[in-house]
Amino acid sequence: MKGLVKRAGILGMGTSIPQRVLTNHDLEKMVDTSDEWIRKRTGIVERRLLDKGAPAFGMGVEAAREAIADAGLKPSDIDAIITATISPDYLSPSMSCIIQSHIGASEAAAFDINAACSGFVYALGIANQYVLSGCYRYILVVSCEAISRLVDWQDRNTCVLFGDGAGAAVVGPVDEDHGILALELGADGTLGHNLTIPCCYFTPDDLAKRAHENKQVIWMDGSEVFKFATRALVYAAERVMEKAGITLDSVRLVVPHQANIRILENAMKRLGVEMERVYVNLDKYGNMSAVSIPVALYEAFREGRLQKGDYVLLVGFGGGLTWASCLLKWNR
Ligand code: COA
Repeated sequence: MKGLVKRAGILGMGTSIPQRVLTNHDLEKMVDTSDEWIRKRTGIVERRLLDKGAPAFGMGVEAAREAIADAGLKPSDIDAIITATISPDYLSPSMSCIIQSHIGASEAAAFDINAACSGFVYALGIANQYVLSGCYRYILVVSCEAISRLVDWQDRNTCVLFGDGAGAAVVGPVDEDHGILALELGADGTLGHNLTIPCCYFTPDDLAKRAHENKQVIWMDGSEVFKFATRALVYAAERVMEKAGITLDSVRLVVPHQANIRILENAMKRLGVEMERVYVNLDKYGNMSAVSIPVALYEAFREGRLQKGDYVLLVGFGGGLTWASCLLKWNR
């Protein structure tokens, strides 16, 4: 089969969003904040949280099953599973191996990647290469995050921003005119210190930034990440359009990472893209890290905002610091 596939695309999608809702008003009772501040400064109104004690992989399994069925496939058709996550239940086994065992994709290759909020698009990039090379035919890409477990719920700078969930896509061969047209994946590790979550090692500086009992929690320099995010969105969007040889005017919908409405408005203004062409659901879910883009893409399609043949631009940024964009010609 090597060399026969000219293009890969998304064949099916699924999501899983926890039932439990945490509103801005709930947060007012937990930290010194207000609904008005959170709405005005971020655009977020509420977010969903995984139940305490529940594993994150359950969301990944649910999203994966829906995506495989949506693609008209069986779990045994899946050749490889790539999970994008920074909040795995275990360092070993990987989230992908756990998902594999639950969905019954026996013998599928399975591994996780960490590119934080850019993770879904990075994983799409890997899947794309596997399909084009003929190495694998059907790749299950899962984004699965329980960021609520990594949040210091006493730190108002970060706890208002994040939510939990999962989103999945099956990537496989599509006809030559559709699918993944171009990708831009990048990182600037010299800026990584602006958003950290220690795991097995801590520096004194890491400890100093966190309340003493909370070592494995997110710390972020919000305004530095804000500046990077705006820059990275513009850069990643421009680069991928250049690679595809298509102008932004032709893009039907931009599906960006959902961190903060002000980041999106600033970046889109610089790109000359009206907000009517930008899919936004951060008001409902907050920032779900690697999960934001697949859930937004899934909802945009379900709401009829994407038709076969439309150009859709996925663009994200996040911890690392990383950025990633993908231009798709929608094949569904
Ligand atoms: N409620 C009320 N006040 C808050 C607050 C909250 N939840 N969080 C921060 N503040 C306060 C700060 O303490 C600061 O007070 P001070 O001036 O007395 O020190 C003030 O609000 C302004 O802080 P600032 O950081 O300038 O706010 P901001 O407008 O930049 O918004 C973020 C803060 C975090 C919302 C914003 O910087 C952001 O979205 N950054 C990017 C985050 C991101 O995308 N992260 C994920 C990457 S994938």
